[in-house]
Amino acid sequence: MQFASRGRDMNIGVAKERSDGEHRVALGPDSVAKLVKGGAAILVERGAGAAAGFPDATFEKAGATMIGDATSLYAKSDIVLRVQPPSLDESRLLPEGSVLISSMPAASSAGLLTALAARRITAFALERVPRITRAQSMDMLSSQSTVSGYKAVLIGAAALPKFLPSLTTAAGSIPPARAFVIGAGVAGLQAIATARRLGAVVSAFDVRAAAREQVMSLGATFVASDLVSPDAETKGGYARAQGEDERERTLAAIARHIVDQDLVVTTALIPGRAAPVLITRAMVESMRPGSVIVDLAAEAGGNCELTKPGETIVVNGVSIIGAVNLPSTVPFHASQMLSRNVLTLLQHLIKDNTLTIDLSDEITKAMVVTHDGAVL
Ligand code: NAI
Repeated sequence: MQFASRGRDMNIGVAKERSDGEHRVALGPDSVAKLVKGGAAILVERGAGAAAGFPDATFEKAGATMIGDATSLYAKSDIVLRVQPPSLDESRLLPEGSVLISSMPAASSAGLLTALAARRITAFALERVPRITRAQSMDMLSSQSTVSGYKAVLIGAAALPKFLPSLTTAAGSIPPARAFVIGAGVAGLQAIATARRLGAVVSAFDVRAAAREQVMSLGATFVASDLVSPDAETKGGYARAQGEDERERTLAAIARHIVDQDLVVTTALIPGRAAPVLITRAMVESMRPGSVIVDLAAEAGGNCELTKPGETIVVNGVSIIGAVNLPSTVPFHASQMLSRNVLTLLQHLIKDNTLTIDLSDEITKAMVVTHDGAVL
């Protein structure tokens, strides 16, 4: 299906985020300038970039037209860009037959998808980008996981009653802290790199064989190499769930290792399932008081069985931080990276000011969740 804007430049609208705690914007001024140069008309809701550090003036300078309120913005837009999905009420502002590009977490969007389909809106879910080389620059999972991995270490370091680096001072010598990263995908590798830069002695564990070399190339040690299995990685690059025996051996290895860790960052996820529980209450109780666990899998149920999403709890002196939406806490660069992802996606979809929804295209097919009146 081709989608041409009705006899005028295609209007791409950038909406202001209204969800609690969301400070990012889906398109930044740099990407606006590129799209304007390519012939698109960009409409930006006033204040959309303010929380991310992009004042209205920077969008105007890039060639955008500022729109005072959401209702007018949506009404004039052929394509609406957002970071978080719209609420049901906001979704009713989208013109029939228009295009929505935003994240669309499966758990929260069932009712929304039905409503979008009923109004023949074509919705792209940013996190459904296929993990293929061609789509790498559109991959918001990777860009935002990079931010999460970085920030997790900073939050953990700030909560620790210790330094991360080793120090030799007139007031005595201080040994480096020990950091342990569980799950060495995009977020985990960035957490390893960040903890290393801050001077911690870093170790990591993942079930995928490819992760072992990546961990070691960052100068961290790999824990329990014998538990890596050649078939742990599925065709899409993700990990499969472990069998019962593998899980028991993994838990035993983590239990042995975690006792002397100061900072633990967990990132382990299995697509479409609850996060695997890899840290038990007994393990937490075996750790030294003052140690910190930052659980990046909190929103998927948590890698630690005590994790509470959005909360920090303390058990036997060990802080367990249930981190949620960390990318929004580094909103300038998270938006800049997300904006680049969205720009590349738009450039893939729009040629000669015509947006093509080609469901035989591998990228479009993976990302479109409602089209032509149906939830796909
Ligand atoms: P993710 O966020 O789904 O999971 C994080 C990590 O947890 C993964 O490394 C996974 O192996 C690990 N994990 C799962 N269960 C575990 C367990 N029981 N114990 C320890 N670790 C466990 O993964 P992410 O970061 O999104 O990356 C997934 C894969 O996609 C990786 O192989 C990555 O290299 C690949 N990738 C490919 C891209 C492309 O080609 N365009 C872009 C980005 C990532």
